[in-house]
Amino acid sequence: MTDEQKRLITVTVPVLKENGVLLTTHFYKRMFTHNPELKNMFNMGNQQSGKQQTALAMAVLAYAENIANPMVLLPVVDRIGHKHTSLDIRPEHYMIVGNHLLESIKEVLGEAATPAIIDAWGAAYQQLASLMSGHEAKLYEKQTIKTNGWTGWRPFKVGKKNIESAEITSFYLYPTDGGHVPMHIPGQYLSVRTFLPDLNLNQARQYSISSAPNEEYYRISVKREKGQNLDANGLISNYLHDFVNEGDVIDLTSPAGNFILAENIAAPIVLISGGVGLTPLMSMLQSLTGKNHTQPITWLHGCRNKSVHAFKDQLDQITSTNSNVKQHTFYNVVTPEDIANGVMEGHLDISSILELHQHPDTNYFICGPSAFIQKQFQDLQAQGINKNAIFFEEFGPQLLQLN
Ligand SMILES: Cc1cc2nc3c(=O)[nH]c(=O)nc-3n(C[C@H](O)[C@H](O)[C@H](O)COP(=O)(O)OP(=O)(O)OC[C@H]3O[C@@H](n4cnc5c(N)ncnc54)[C@H](O)[C@@H]3O)c2cc1C
Ligand code: HEM
Repeated sequence: MTDEQKRLITVTVPVLKENGVLLTTHFYKRMFTHNPELKNMFNMGNQQSGKQQTALAMAVLAYAENIANPMVLLPVVDRIGHKHTSLDIRPEHYMIVGNHLLESIKEVLGEAATPAIIDAWGAAYQQLASLMSGHEAKLYEKQTIKTNGWTGWRPFKVGKKNIESAEITSFYLYPTDGGHVPMHIPGQYLSVRTFLPDLNLNQARQYSISSAPNEEYYRISVKREKGQNLDANGLISNYLHDFVNEGDVIDLTSPAGNFILAENIAAPIVLISGGVGLTPLMSMLQSLTGKNHTQPITWLHGCRNKSVHAFKDQLDQITSTNSNVKQHTFYNVVTPEDIANGVMEGHLDISSILELHQHPDTNYFICGPSAFIQKQFQDLQAQGINKNAIFFEEFGPQLLQLN
């Protein structure tokens, strides 16, 4: 890009940001009108709830804002790249998005959109698209060269469906082609895609793998999402609970994500989960105990009450057979029986656990709702724990900027 192009970008970013909602609304409307097939790729729930429709266009603007030093955005490119590869997004899709984004910029800027300004935006988008699709090409390559690796969508059969709590059900997923699967890294997620007859669309969602790495199957554990309005229930989670049964087939992409347990980690581990956020941590715990990790592991879990406490029996069994694993459980509502079993009342509070940071190398993994992650992160920092030792996963577009 020329210096003049960079200058033109810098001058127009504030106008586009000011009109951010107009830009993104325009962009998605345009894209879904001209390329309706992309509705199968995007989360139409996110589009409705307004949570994420700005993510793509806003990320482009954030990049443009840093056009003088785009490298500051590299860590974000890796996270988005994992999400994109998990949705099978390929270089040709960047062409379509770029075309609609440029047309939307023209429409928002109106007469101010001179040919030089549009050229500059074209060059900036191209640069970002090459950076991102180049990184994604490396991620696809890594997936391909893994033993049993694959990229894109692959059909899997539900081998077993198991109720884990009043709200969470597990699905054990085996490839229909009879092949094996690559071992995931504990903490990773995969995308599940299924056809929704009511929408006449395919829809995909991410689910953390809750089983320990193995070459036979992946287990995901899905919480039935009730909408805040009674008529707005979660599309895929309810579909999986109600209509996907043993023997049915759904499509999966390869494990992705960088919320992961380092290989051969030899440090104490603290796993902190809220509600269904326990799924990636179950994979970590089962993997660690399966490998005879001898360092202390502390499992902290908070949920509303015993009826929604998934994997309780399995966790009790793991703690009773591994002397290095301790668990502390918090229920919002406790019964005398819960108290007798050592459950604490109220929201998960790390300050009530004395032996949490006995070793400076301890790694902390948090997963749960955004407000939960934020609270645990702040409480850990208040105890003097370095933020570089704290890792977290949000079950939605990453909006938190904590470390
Ligand atoms: C990395 C990652 C890992 C994840 N791991 C897991 C996991 O292990 N287990 C798990 O259960 N989930 C997990 N999730 C969340 C999962 O991907 C889905 O977001 C979740 O299942 C909800 O999807 P859905 O289709 O049921 O709901 P959607 O239809 O996508 O709706 C999402 C929420 O918005 C509400 N909503 C939708 N439309 C409206 C509307 N018009 N008005 C008001 N509210 C509305 C819904 O009721 C619901 O609560 C993970 C997400 C990510 C990103
Ligand atoms: C330079 C171009 C792009 C940028 C800057 C960008 C940015 C982003 C960001 C920030 C997210 C959210 C990540 C998260 O969940 O934390 C995201 C998710 C996503 N992106 Fe992109 N993206 C680009 C190109 C594309 C293309 C070409 C496609 C496909 C046509 C695409 C499809 C998606 C989808 C489907 C999601 C998941 C969210 C959803 O389903 O609504 N993106 N992208």
